Amino acid sequence: MLFKGKSLSAELLNDGIVEMKFDAEGSVNKFDQATFEEYRAAVAAINNCADAKGVLVTSGKSAFIVGADITEFLETFKEPEEALVPWVKAASDVFDSFEDIQLPTVAAINGFALGGGCEMTLVCDYRVADTTASIGLPEVKLGLMPGFGGTVRLPRLIGADNAIEWMSTGKAHKAAAAMAVGAVDAVVAPEHLRDAAVSMLKQAIDGKLDWKAKRQPKLEPLKLNPTETIMTFNTCKGMIAAKAGKHYPAPMVTVKTIEAAAGLDRAGAMHLENVGFAKLAKTDAATAQIGLFMADQVIKGKAKKAGKMATKAVNKAAVLGAGIMGGGIAYQSAYKGTPIVMKDINNEALDLGLNTASGILTKLVERGRMNAKKMAGVLNNITPSLSYDNVKDVDIVVEAVVENPKIKGLVLAEVEGVVADDAIITSNTSTISIDLLAESIQRKDKFCGMHFFNPVHKMPLVEVIRGKETSDETVAAVVAYAAKMGKSPIVVNDCPGFYVNRVLFPYFAGFSQLVIEGADFTAVDKVMEKQFGWPMGPAYLLDVVGIDTADHCTGVMSAGFPTRMQKIGNDPVSKMYNNDRLGQKNGKGFYDYGTDKRGKPTKVPSAVAYELIGNTEHTDFSADEIIARVMIPMVNEVVRCLEEGIVDTAAEADMGLIYGLGFPPFRGGPIRYLETVGIEKFIEMADKYAHLGEIYQVTDGMREMAKSGKSYFMTDVKTA
Ligand SMILES: NC(=O)c1ccc[n+]([C@@H]2O[C@H](COP(=O)([O-])OP(=O)(O)OC[C@H]3O[C@@H](n4cnc5c(N)ncnc54)[C@H](O)[C@@H]3O)[C@@H](O)[C@H]2O)c1
Repeated sequence: MLFKGKSLSAELLNDGIVEMKFDAEGSVNKFDQATFEEYRAAVAAINNCADAKGVLVTSGKSAFIVGADITEFLETFKEPEEALVPWVKAASDVFDSFEDIQLPTVAAINGFALGGGCEMTLVCDYRVADTTASIGLPEVKLGLMPGFGGTVRLPRLIGADNAIEWMSTGKAHKAAAAMAVGAVDAVVAPEHLRDAAVSMLKQAIDGKLDWKAKRQPKLEPLKLNPTETIMTFNTCKGMIAAKAGKHYPAPMVTVKTIEAAAGLDRAGAMHLENVGFAKLAKTDAATAQIGLFMADQVIKGKAKKAGKMATKAVNKAAVLGAGIMGGGIAYQSAYKGTPIVMKDINNEALDLGLNTASGILTKLVERGRMNAKKMAGVLNNITPSLSYDNVKDVDIVVEAVVENPKIKGLVLAEVEGVVADDAIITSNTSTISIDLLAESIQRKDKFCGMHFFNPVHKMPLVEVIRGKETSDETVAAVVAYAAKMGKSPIVVNDCPGFYVNRVLFPYFAGFSQLVIEGADFTAVDKVMEKQFGWPMGPAYLLDVVGIDTADHCTGVMSAGFPTRMQKIGNDPVSKMYNNDRLGQKNGKGFYDYGTDKRGKPTKVPSAVAYELIGNTEHTDFSADEIIARVMIPMVNEVVRCLEEGIVDTAAEADMGLIYGLGFPPFRGGPIRYLETVGIEKFIEMADKYAHLGEIYQVTDGMREMAKSGKSYFMTDVKTA
């Protein structure tokens, strides 16, 4: 053995072949600080081995190398930019030193070779992949760019245009696709991977393959003439500017780095990569996107744990109500392989529910993402029913009938009388207290909320609402079912609005108050969309949610939190509601909705809405003020939910709004946003508006957090 570490080893085999094998003690191979040290030592050992004739890089795991250890990033990235340049250079130097080994090198790639894993393959002269391989540079998804030579080597290997496409989308590529552009040299069946890689290495050792010539372009400037250079980079920059926009700087910095490095040799190009990486590592977007990735891991980890803990498996489900939500829930369950009975009290509703499902499926078939056979299979998984007969043997029921506590109570009691004793019953209510609904249920331990978001097939979040008497087993089974449906479940405790709606309504209240004071609702929407990054501003969102629904929820919230969320006199939302302006559903709300001559949907600010609100003369508010006035109430309420244990961790609080409301991902969620602004600065800002009401008043807990200099995410480490 030439070298043996905890993550990798180097061993001299027959015929002068050194096998450098990544086989970490953990479940996957990844690059962390300790692995870099071992990598450096292994390269030195190989260079010192007089009998070595070639190097084979392999993995002892089912995946090659999954990437860099992101959990180390956030701490490291707190260092100043000047310190990050030498930090990343030290790592990329190790990769260069491998590339400089004066022997032919071949990577045998199985499974994921992502990020640093992909860059490990790029330092080799040849790459042989098996059909399980998935290769890519996903750093852009974390607001970063490759930092171990990816921006230098990949363009020189597959051309700048292909490389930019890989890096700016962050997509992983199957072996065949990677080979088509030249990122790998051969693709074989998994059982032949090792032999094929060894055979290629032997050919290189024997001089049948000119490995030096293969390596050379990676050490030189890009082979593009000046016209090609201008064409390629200008086209890419134009596309990226249009697609990524100003909130996501990573793809543009990546392209500009590759462009600036095009005429340079490896050392020059690598320096620019080091500098670009450090610059991106310091952006708020990178902090937010890395935080999101980690938060998503927290949620997935919890769902996995629940899956293991769940004593009740869900193999058959029922949804009561075939409306907007029932139809969507039936589709999602069936699509992900759990057969579901869809029960309603009238036939037309059942037809509508089925049409919703077949409409989504038809689109998938039209886009070539599903075949007709699979579509038929999914539809067969939905059993429409007017009677409870088909519901008797289900494992779980999702009640999604009209939002009326009396009707829901009756329906829940009715279904409990039909299903088996161990069946779980859930409600998709968006506002009614789970404990209140539980009063209609006998087996209260087997009852909880399962709050989906509209449209069900698109929105990833499911709030699993634990009632006072819900058992842990029930929560675990429901979390597992939501995960099986392809959703991201977050467990929350019962309170008016649960988590997502509870924090959304103070935001709407902030909006209403602004409009009452004379703000133009279109100006507010514009700032919140273009500057803050929400997919829809508050007025547009209210129209989409439905003004009637919003008005109803406002009532629920004001009853639940009478001092903080009391109904606002003159509320523009109530004015819309009282004048039958229900939003998108009846074509009139803050905006008027229609179609143009070509049948395309239109949305224009409504003159009637302005009249109703009574603020045709507008007061100007600065963008900063608009953001503060609507965001402070939301963030304050999120903090209250954390303090009251409605939601467990900051990670879940962030993901809940990203997945449930479309909170701008580059801001990482409400708590990440709070900490990016700075807790102290946020308090200062909120204090300025404290006179406007309780929603603007920060909690004592937040003041303490600011004083202690701690982070809301620190507590997560303990609880996650
Ligand atoms: N629409 C949303 O955006 C949204 C989002 C999240 C949660 N929710 C909640 O989901 C539930 C359903 O909302 P929706 O928008 O789908 O309503 P909807 O009005 O579109 O559908 C309700 C359906 O329930 C049926 N129904 C009524 N009584 C019934 C009974 N006794 N048995 C079986 N079916 C019965 C109706 O025929 C109708 O098809 C509500 O509790 C709502 O608050 C709605």
